[in-house]
Amino acid sequence: MKLNPLASGLNERLETAAPEVAEMLSPMGRGLYFPKGILSQSAEATEKASRYNATIGIATEDSQAMHLSTMARYIECLSPDETFPYAPAGGVQSLRALWSEKQRRENSNMQGKAVGLPIVTSAITHGLGLVGDLFVGPSDRILLPDKLWGNYRLTYEVRYGATIGTFPFFSGSCFNIAGFKEALAREAAAHSKLVIILNFPNNPTGYMPTVEESREIVSSLLATADSGTKLVVICDDAYFGLFYHLGGESSKESLFGELVGRHQNLFSIRLDGATKELFAWGLRCGFLTLGPGDRNSAEEVIDVLDAKLRGAIRSGVSNSPLLSQTLVERCLTDLESIKERDDKIEILRERAERVNLSARSSRFSDSWEVYPFNSGYFMCLKIKGVSAETVRRYLLDRYQTGLIATAEYDLRVAFSCLELEEIEPLFELIDRSVRDLT
Ligand SMILES: Cc1ncc(COP(=O)(O)O)c(C=O)c1O
Repeated sequence: MKLNPLASGLNERLETAAPEVAEMLSPMGRGLYFPKGILSQSAEATEKASRYNATIGIATEDSQAMHLSTMARYIECLSPDETFPYAPAGGVQSLRALWSEKQRRENSNMQGKAVGLPIVTSAITHGLGLVGDLFVGPSDRILLPDKLWGNYRLTYEVRYGATIGTFPFFSGSCFNIAGFKEALAREAAAHSKLVIILNFPNNPTGYMPTVEESREIVSSLLATADSGTKLVVICDDAYFGLFYHLGGESSKESLFGELVGRHQNLFSIRLDGATKELFAWGLRCGFLTLGPGDRNSAEEVIDVLDAKLRGAIRSGVSNSPLLSQTLVERCLTDLESIKERDDKIEILRERAERVNLSARSSRFSDSWEVYPFNSGYFMCLKIKGVSAETVRRYLLDRYQTGLIATAEYDLRVAFSCLELEEIEPLFELIDRSVRDLT
């Protein structure tokens, strides 16, 4: 495996300081590093961005973490038995059933589909690792759009030794269907099995496809499966439900429901959770749902893979925290909590609308293009004439404002952390910085 330069740097330091310890490392130990990207840029912003900090992948309100006050209240009244014992490896059964009901309520395309009972994970990152345990090895190839959450690389390249291929996410203001088909054909010609990651709403762009685009994505996948390639499709639905339909109606359902039970060569897995949807990032409560392609064998396949996943959990983290599961379960059964969640989504929708208006103002057209966005926590600018990293540093040092550079010209704005009145001034500052630098 080709080492990331950050891993090589750490290995060299270890070889200098303690060559004996360097020799003890496993191949994965040698490959591991702590990524620069989002986390180190966020850390810099925490130190310097005293004016605006739009770096973090959570939502804030009144200068603290957005949260459901109903959920906070439950913490004080839980019994010891709801808090301290071990949870089952696959999660609390009643919570698994409730989450399954929620999924079906929110996705009419799941009606009548044979899917697994959601397995509780220590949030979505853990779910991605479990999919890796089951489906990803050193010879595997992963395909995803070029606007991606960087942690996929650490998970699948470093931990599982797979390689990642990308295709351009957008064609104009649409999902790049032609590019997706071309990439599928190219990769399928070279690999008998492919792992595809579809993350909608997307991090970093905040894009959710339209119903028509979703249909095209599904038919491209089915055609590839039909030509004989085995497909594992991971639907990373971390930001599910945060749909604002800016500039037109987007789809409101996960692709997962469209993919299940459609072709024996296509196995889908849905990853979703309370982290982003219920504004409970630190509770680490997520779900993994199995979606077999062949209805005839679905029950048996789910039974077998559920057992294997519970084995992976047992041997990895043993089980996920019971306290978190109890809180999420309470939240799902409390109408007041659900209403509160809807109110928070409305706050984010208002912010997204203000961002859409401000960022697209014609007075900024010399400084950036706005990538399509309509959902989620983030949006992205394509900066003109100067690198995103240069603008990021300038904003931080000159204007105490934190954003994330996700690619050479891409600057991510987490509007989930901006109050309404901060939005217009933030874009003014970005524009001033780009002008100063060009
Ligand atoms: C696309 C995407 N998937 C997964 C995650 C991880 O979520 P969790 O905190 O549930 O592990 C994130 C978090 O930033 C994300 O943006």
